[in-house]
Amino acid sequence: SVPVLTIDGPSGAGKGTVSRAIARKLGWHYLDSGSIYRSLAIAAIAEGVDLSDETVVAEVAKAMVLEFECAEELTVKLDGKDITGQLGLESTGNAASMVAALPEVRKVLLQKQKDFRRPPGLVADGRDMGTVVFPDAQNKVFLTASAEERAMRRYKQLKEKGIDANLSSITQEIEERDRRDQQRKAAPLMQADDAVFIDSSDMSIETVIEQIINLIR
Ligand code: CDP
Repeated sequence: SVPVLTIDGPSGAGKGTVSRAIARKLGWHYLDSGSIYRSLAIAAIAEGVDLSDETVVAEVAKAMVLEFECAEELTVKLDGKDITGQLGLESTGNAASMVAALPEVRKVLLQKQKDFRRPPGLVADGRDMGTVVFPDAQNKVFLTASAEERAMRRYKQLKEKGIDANLSSITQEIEERDRRDQQRKAAPLMQADDAVFIDSSDMSIETVIEQIINLIR
């Protein structure tokens, strides 16, 4: 079957940067599953629905049409409209983690994610790639870093994008997001039994990329 490398882990562990770099090196497709939850959050907010209303949010998930374009940067269109600019906002990430907690929503989005598995291969980045979406993946990584380090990276990333950011509120949000991702009933963040654990707190992105590429079978 088509090879898949899953990279799961908490918010801000560097999964996005690492996954994109590896996908580019291998010439594989890239699934940023977080951006699907982010897009859904944007759609639900635009329609003015209550983000905790499972049935209604699941309806929005079923109806939305997403187009991903992965050139230099990821471009996402929701129902034909470019939403790339809103995608990276912290408020979008927080709303995404709310809709991601709804089991019915996760069920609806499952097939959309599986469809990314096309030759010659896929790098899938998220929370439940190795546990739920691609349990049969040949290569699985669980990538993490300390909460302080993750907050610092996120802070720098936002600054680079010219987005106004505050380190202590980002740290708080990261801890809040960790709690929500770990404690939810639907697909809580956890390491797959057969995943390789990597703590990147004291590692450069380049080293992380190299280690993961060396793992690939
Ligand atoms: O890394 P960060 O949390 O900032 O963003 P993300 O990876 O884009 O994910 C946004 C939110 O979507 C996360 O906080 C998770 O709650 C949720 N998510 C999920 O539940 N399952 C995934 N496979 C990916 C993201």
